[in-house]
Amino acid sequence: MGAVAAPVTKGEELELDVDSLAYGGNGVARLDGFVVFVRRGLPGDRVRARVTKVKRSHAEALATEVLRPGPERVEAPCAHFPACGGCRFQDLAYEAQLEQKQLQVRDALQRLAGIAEPPLEPIVPCEPEIFHYRNKLEYSFTSTPDGPALGFHRAGRWDEVLEIERCWLTDELGNGIRDAVRVWAREEGLEAYSQADGSGYLRHLVVRQGRNTGQALVQLVTAPGERFETGYLVDVLRRIPEVRSVHWSINDTLAEVTNLPTRLLWGEEWIEEELCGLRFRVRPNAFLQTNTAMAERLYALAREAAGLTGGETVWDLYCGIGTIGLSLARDALTVWGIEVSEESVACALENAELNGITNSAFFAGNVGEVVEELLERSGPPDVVVVDPPRAGLAGKALRRLGRIGAPRLVYVSCNPTTLAGDLKALRDEHGYELRRVTPVDMFPHTPHVECVALLEHVPG
Ligand SMILES: C[S@@+](CC[C@H](N)C(=O)[O-])C[C@H]1O[C@@H](n2cnc3c(N)ncnc32)[C@H](O)[C@@H]1O
Repeated sequence: MGAVAAPVTKGEELELDVDSLAYGGNGVARLDGFVVFVRRGLPGDRVRARVTKVKRSHAEALATEVLRPGPERVEAPCAHFPACGGCRFQDLAYEAQLEQKQLQVRDALQRLAGIAEPPLEPIVPCEPEIFHYRNKLEYSFTSTPDGPALGFHRAGRWDEVLEIERCWLTDELGNGIRDAVRVWAREEGLEAYSQADGSGYLRHLVVRQGRNTGQALVQLVTAPGERFETGYLVDVLRRIPEVRSVHWSINDTLAEVTNLPTRLLWGEEWIEEELCGLRFRVRPNAFLQTNTAMAERLYALAREAAGLTGGETVWDLYCGIGTIGLSLARDALTVWGIEVSEESVACALENAELNGITNSAFFAGNVGEVVEELLERSGPPDVVVVDPPRAGLAGKALRRLGRIGAPRLVYVSCNPTTLAGDLKALRDEHGYELRRVTPVDMFPHTPHVECVALLEHVPG
């Protein structure tokens, strides 16, 4: 049978009914069975949409008009929505967001892991608030007729920054720090850096907050050169009593990055956050889950899945600043963490000491490269916790962990599609059976969904 031509063409205007949201956040509509992914289409909507891309198996389109809104559309509270690229679904009722994320995880497990009836628990909703939950925001500077301003990239645009007056994902303190820096930048007569021609000076502002400690860390990123009086910036920021740590980084590359070496301008090198009853030091480049309250829920699920009784050797792989491992240490014999970022490992070691935890050890390294060495040091693990980045367990890490074959594997995932692929390989090639998966909504109004999966090794 020859291939059937796609029933749509690029640029064509269509009327479509959106039935669901695909992972990543686009609406899914069908035209005689042919799938069209509709950006800005929500479940239940009838939309007019312009086709932007046509492939053999599906097409992509952008909703240009909502002809009949779906029943779960709500008023978005933020004045910058939908122009701002930070939130995609403020206009979808929270219950519907949860339902869609649950369906996405189910779909990934069915299609990509090949599990017809996945052992899926109900998604854990975000609490206590579905707004103001982020403990870290990275702003870009932009030029306006009134001087430099701070904001986020426009939805779908890497080259345009939208000035933000009030972000609903942070709190009053976070918004206040950003505003104070904008006022300072104008007072100092500084210019925003232009990505287009490399002119200007101010590039990014990173604000991190210890939500349970009330402490804040500020990192300013500029182009090369000392064009401001560092003491005055510090004076401005010290007017905000929560600010404990002020850093400055220079970015002399074209890349829009903030994970750069920092120079401490004032205060401590770090701030502290409290999670699961423990104190954690967080340095500018160290990883910390960006929703503090839900990180505690996520870790509680990981702890439950680990099922520790006090005698276990536990590995915490991709451990960041040691949060999961240290929160498990009191119930384990020993905890061994691996993390690629040296700065995070330094924090993990400090954090063990800060909390008087003496049965843990942390090492810098790439999980795929060093687990065999870890095996020699720690002996066979009883429980392995992995919390990899979005790409999941890269082939080598998965194969080596599969061969080591710890009885229990707790997989904390920020991407259900890579989780599902890894679950399939762990089952088919290494004898791991999936016992349960719990989706967790750490990031309302965004397409992200976290999962905690428990696998058990069933030797063949
Ligand atoms: C999703 S974070 C999890 C961190 C920590 N478990 C937590 O909850 O805060 C993933 C971590 O893996 C680290 N990482 C990325 N690739 C790695 C690799 N190949 N080997 C070791 N660590 C890696 C990142 O630096 C990051 O800290």
